[in-house]
Amino acid sequence: MGAETSSFLDSAIMLLYLVATSFFIIGIKRLGSAATARSGNQLAAIGMLLGVAVTLFDQQILRYEWIVAGMVLGGLVGAVLARSVAMTSMPELVALFNGLGGAASALVAWGEWERVGAAGLGPDALVTIGLSLLIGSITLTGSLMAFGKLNGFITGKPITFPAQNILTIVLMASMLVASGLFAWDPSVEMLFWIILGGSLLLGVLTVLPIGGADMPVVISLLNSYSGLAASMAGFVLNNPLLIVSGALVGAAGLILTNIMCVAMNRSLLNVLFGSFGGGDSTAGGADSAGTATDMIIKETNADDIAIQCGYANKVVIVPGYGLAVAQAQHVVKEVATLLEQKGVEVLYGIHPVAGRMPGHMNVLLAEADVPYDQLYDMEQINSEFSTTDVVLIIGANDVVNPAAKSNPGSPIYGMPVLNVQEAGRTIVFKRSLKPGFAGIENELFGAEQNQMFFGDAKKSLQDLVRALKENE
Ligand code: TAP
Repeated sequence: MGAETSSFLDSAIMLLYLVATSFFIIGIKRLGSAATARSGNQLAAIGMLLGVAVTLFDQQILRYEWIVAGMVLGGLVGAVLARSVAMTSMPELVALFNGLGGAASALVAWGEWERVGAAGLGPDALVTIGLSLLIGSITLTGSLMAFGKLNGFITGKPITFPAQNILTIVLMASMLVASGLFAWDPSVEMLFWIILGGSLLLGVLTVLPIGGADMPVVISLLNSYSGLAASMAGFVLNNPLLIVSGALVGAAGLILTNIMCVAMNRSLLNVLFGSFGGGDSTAGGADSAGTATDMIIKETNADDIAIQCGYANKVVIVPGYGLAVAQAQHVVKEVATLLEQKGVEVLYGIHPVAGRMPGHMNVLLAEADVPYDQLYDMEQINSEFSTTDVVLIIGANDVVNPAAKSNPGSPIYGMPVLNVQEAGRTIVFKRSLKPGFAGIENELFGAEQNQMFFGDAKKSLQDLVRALKENE
């Protein structure tokens, strides 16, 4: 190939990389609203297809056999997973994807180190190889641990031992020092293996003490790590598309992590080192400690709720993790439709960390075809409660706990919550008085305007549907 053709090809590749990058950025922007999210996802996927296709014209590629084999195998696995994995298992799948992203970046660093050899690499290349190996390996084992905790292979309870946090911090500092030394003097081959082994161990140690229900925060953070590792791998390979797309993933993951921490009023350090919550993310939540024994509890039933809701002007439905456990999203929609037929205005109040993953409630309700314009986020719905007659709280607990506002001694004090107690009547649908993920008593259960409807959310809502139909 002539020099002119070669330089034209390089310029064309750069230009198409720029187009692919724009697709990623516009795609992410469109993910910000439920109405445009689907097209945003498609746009980003087209950008990725373009990026992959353009990279195949890279002049450094000598043979295509392994690339084609990888694409066929990866494509097959991806297609099978996309068809078979249930919506409720998405967090596990994302955890696995992050882990694979981290592993890929670490392998790129390893490959480049083997290919070029220590003598041929400058300090800048060695820094990026060291960081790619470090962050990629932490992401791999950390994500596998998160996958295990979400899947139930590993207990969802925090696993702790004496001096654990100190050990983690010392190991983290040692790995950074080892990476610096590696860039300084790569002839000491042992440093490469120390960084690899130490980082794999660090991934395990950082996720072990974190409770199962905090995994969404961890997954989002690991997602950010996988982006940073990819960005580093982009520097190793001198590939601008990988640098930019990795940085986008890194930044997006960090922003989401921050949103979740703010919504729980907890710092990232508290999530990482606080061993918060005893809940098992695969079962229904915390243990029975702290049950609300000294409160006066008023029980109700489906017929009574049907009458109260039938006379209401406005009903707000507040879903929580229990709705997901019971898979009651379709029956909730049925209840809402029956109420609307009676002329009742129905809204849904969504807390940003209700459930066990970002957007958990939105995904469930979208699956049941609940219209987007009925979903109100926390700021919007909090101004509606004072004019609401009945709030139906379905399997939600911590996100409606008034202790977050009234009890400075509570572990969730300061966490923004839904102000349901401002409504005329609140009705809590859950199986018992057991606490939610935070493991604390909920004062709302004994409040003057509150009633409890005990039972599995799906069964209770089915009873309510029957009662609403009988009352027509
Ligand atoms: P929780 O406070 O955990 O409460 C869920 C309630 O659902 C439990 O009290 C449980 O009570 C009930 N439940 C379970 N299975 C049920 C079933 N089949 N039928 C009826 N009720 C059932 O959940 P929440 O209010 O959604 O709050 C989320 C919690 O997770 C917060 O503490 C939040 O900080 C934490 N968290 C969330 C995220 C994200 S991104 N969503 C991230 C990190 C932490 P019974 O056992 O009595 O039925």
